[in-house]
Amino acid sequence: MQRTEAVAAVVLGAGKGTRMKSDLPKVMHRIGGRAMIQVLMDAVANLAPQHCVVVTAPDMQEVRDCVAPARCVTQSPALGTAHAVAQARPVLEGFEGTVLVLYGDTPLVTADTMRALVARRLGPDDPAVVVLGFRPEDPGAYGRLIGDEDGNLQRIVEYKDADEQERAIRLCNSGVVAVDGRILFELLDAVGNDNASGEYYLTDIVAIARERGRACAYVEGAAEEVLGINSHVEQAAAEAIYQNRLREAAMRAGVTMIAPETVFLSHDTRFGRDVVIEPHVVIGPGVRIGDRVRIKAFCHLESAEIGEGAAIGPYGRLRPGAEIGADAKIGNFVEVKKAVIEEGAKVSHLTYIGDARVGAGANIGAGTITCNYDGYLKSFTDIGKGAFIGSNTALVAPVKIGDGAIVGAGSVITHDVPADALAVTRAEEKRLPRWAARFRKRRQAERNRKAENG
Ligand code: UD1
Ligand code: MG
Repeated sequence: MQRTEAVAAVVLGAGKGTRMKSDLPKVMHRIGGRAMIQVLMDAVANLAPQHCVVVTAPDMQEVRDCVAPARCVTQSPALGTAHAVAQARPVLEGFEGTVLVLYGDTPLVTADTMRALVARRLGPDDPAVVVLGFRPEDPGAYGRLIGDEDGNLQRIVEYKDADEQERAIRLCNSGVVAVDGRILFELLDAVGNDNASGEYYLTDIVAIARERGRACAYVEGAAEEVLGINSHVEQAAAEAIYQNRLREAAMRAGVTMIAPETVFLSHDTRFGRDVVIEPHVVIGPGVRIGDRVRIKAFCHLESAEIGEGAAIGPYGRLRPGAEIGADAKIGNFVEVKKAVIEEGAKVSHLTYIGDARVGAGANIGAGTITCNYDGYLKSFTDIGKGAFIGSNTALVAPVKIGDGAIVGAGSVITHDVPADALAVTRAEEKRLPRWAARFRKRRQAERNRKAENG
């Protein structure tokens, strides 16, 4: 019978992240539209851990708010990774399962990899510590794993403390470890700080466990998953990896992308079936796209819902609260904010619809503006079903256009229009027959006279 055991997670995030050159704690910087620590916490949640403890510095309230309801403990001062994990003792004391230690600034570790670590922890040799190793192109200053080909681990040596031979080892410590919860704190208690940094290294627990006769092991993971973020350059690299994952998941779920590398998604983008996304589209958080929707090139969408069969763009802009009904059409250079566009309505060109309803089947002409803001308050525009709004119309809210009404092009509408009525507000049109021809003749003569007189 396969052994199963409870899992607890400890996420380290007390580091300041000075290289981000930011007032925001490092782990609050975003990947795929949300804090990087949240990306990691989501992967952790897939393991249904019995406990999840986040270690922060005292001044990181926003991190604690972000990871709630996870338990948070503070570390002050920060004396190293072993010291950080030790802060979880009040929560994990007596926990006998496997404790996964993760770094908040290494958010791309997948749930599958975490499971592989836990599974190895439960192997027949009952290793006290299982480390996620990887072979980066440039091993740089990572800790090096001293082990054998079979995945047994002797110890980890930090770069600063390593000799030349050890530095030549390419197998590195990702920082992710799975530890036998029954002896975690006993191992941590034995860690000293007699090393090049004067810090309590979590990595020392491997050698300590070996001294106590316990096996230790490593599993190798993909370098892509263990990318640590210390600067905005690495943040961008992590974003690229994460975006690839999101695109691949979307395509696997039935989305067609003509140039996926130019499409940017968010962690929570939801797609129906047979969606097509043309090149150069940016989708921010909170977007749901229904079946058979086509998002044409150069659209920017955020917090919006798009009903089945609708078409957006090219150059469409959906802002928070845009609800596009089934088979509706939002055309080029159209901005929709906090508005419901009902089934089959068409807003095809150069228009702003904000704080409004556009009834089913209505047609909104080019250059229509809902004037929703007077500098103090927002007001609502209600356009009835089947209404026709002529081009270059300003609808000054609050205002209601009845079902089936027609508004003539170029109108400024400030009063409600009854159903099926015509409203036009324009200066009366004048006709002066032959005026243009006479004008041209006169002006040409004047020009000729001037030329003759030098
Ligand atoms: C650590 C590992 C190294 C590994 C590397 C991978 C140790 C001693 N070394 O080194 O073997 O190759 O990660 O990236 O563990 N933190 C705290 N409190 C502290 C110190 C750190 O919460 O007192 C947190 C940081 O916020 C960060 C994580 O622990 O999320 C790692 O700390 P960091 O200082 O970056 O460790 P490295 O020197 O990179
Ligand atoms: Mg680091």
